[in-house]
Amino acid sequence: MPNTSATLLLDHTVLTTIVDDLATRGWSQHDLFIAQGLTRDLAAECQQRAADGRLAPAAVGRGASAQVREGVRGDSIQWLEAGESAATDAYLAMMDQLRQGLNQALYLGLDDYESHFALYPPGAFYQRHVDRFRDDDRRTVSAVLYLNEGWLPEQGGALRIYPEDKAHDVAPVGGRLVIFMSGELPHEVLPATRERLSLTGWFRRRQA
Ligand code: OGA
Ligand code: MN
Repeated sequence: MPNTSATLLLDHTVLTTIVDDLATRGWSQHDLFIAQGLTRDLAAECQQRAADGRLAPAAVGRGASAQVREGVRGDSIQWLEAGESAATDAYLAMMDQLRQGLNQALYLGLDDYESHFALYPPGAFYQRHVDRFRDDDRRTVSAVLYLNEGWLPEQGGALRIYPEDKAHDVAPVGGRLVIFMSGELPHEVLPATRERLSLTGWFRRRQA
């Protein structure tokens, strides 16, 4: 039965562009993916969590082999859970619509979404990597939403992606979403001269 009570949060033309881009080149970028007010609320929430000491240095790898290695990645993170705030719930609802849209168009079988706030202090970076773990291939589509108001190109902090043709830099401008196939696209985060905030997540398949 269709869920008629769900508010339509995700614009259909945005979904179509994401689907076409993922199918043809494996990545897509959207400015103003969410309303500016929501970007601001999410940024404020990320800053408040940092001020409250709720962000922790991110690990590399998963499970028993997870390790904090600042020479590989220097961000601090906190995983999102449902019901924490109106802003995070609005974003989670939107990502669930995106998950369903991707499944309908691309038959990806995505059945879950995990995400975390991330804060890179000035100078922090994340070395070139692919998001899918060696021992766990559930991560299928990666989505990064940037939360930085008034970001200037000279402040650095680009997401550098390596599609087959050539490297491409995406500045972490507030409200911008970058989405890509987790197992295919190598990428890195370059150091910035100011704090860099994002909300990063992964659509996952059921474990095979
Ligand atoms: C990650 C990542 C990219 C970014 O968290 O795995 O690559 O631009 N983030 O923050
Ligand atoms: Mn990554």
